[in-house]
Amino acid sequence: MKKLVILTGAGISAESGVKTFRDSDGLWKNYRIEEVASPVAWQNNPEMVLEFYNQRRKQLFEVKPNAGHIALVRLEEKYNVQIITQNVDDLHERAGSSNVLHLHGELKKARSTVDPNLIYSLDHWELKMGDKCEKGSQLRPHIVWFGETVEMINPAVEIISGADIVIVVGTSMVVYPAAGLINYVRDESAKYYIDPKAFQVHGIANLEMIRKKAGEGVPPLVDQLLKQA
Ligand code: APR
Repeated sequence: MKKLVILTGAGISAESGVKTFRDSDGLWKNYRIEEVASPVAWQNNPEMVLEFYNQRRKQLFEVKPNAGHIALVRLEEKYNVQIITQNVDDLHERAGSSNVLHLHGELKKARSTVDPNLIYSLDHWELKMGDKCEKGSQLRPHIVWFGETVEMINPAVEIISGADIVIVVGTSMVVYPAAGLINYVRDESAKYYIDPKAFQVHGIANLEMIRKKAGEGVPPLVDQLLKQA
């Protein structure tokens, strides 16, 4: 089976009703998201940071996968599919995708602040001050904050370097290192970029831009790829 890698960003969840970062002028309660999703904010005002993620987690229990997420699952019939997502929602998993790598963490998980290997699934929306890990330290969102290391980037480079086909969906390609992954794809591999603002990424060969929303652009491409498999 050919290896097909899908790199997604906030845009694939937009039609599920989840706000993107830069389309919603990147603000939350008049804070810049970069100010809230950061170790400094956690140091100075952990309650505010917890509330930011609690509100997004609460919304996650109210939204569902859209046609874009669902269509991608069908590719698993004929391809060895790996999703690499910048999103922290679980909509790919809920749509039925089998292999999802989260570059920036997961909203429905929390982790210890003394031992990053202690990670807990959250089955409710609220993470509060006083919620502690088994070692007695405050739990934090299992999210990669601005300025923190993207621990999963090396496995992601490994995966995308071996791709025969790459589909990029719903990302502005401005946040590194995620945006740099496209540079590791072999020149001869077919690449598709589905996004209303899709642009020719500098120096990337064999890239087809599909300037459509995910719900509109993903299903026909999936049909085409299943036919040619
Ligand atoms: N279908 C497809 N793409 C869409 C849709 C849609 N319905 N609506 C918006 N888009 C596109 C926008 O054109 C834009 O290119 O989704 C992209 C959203 O870009 P960003 O808001 O920058 O989101 P993303 O690229 O995922 O941001 C990357 O930045 O803030 C950090 O960690 C955060 O993971 C995030 C990272």
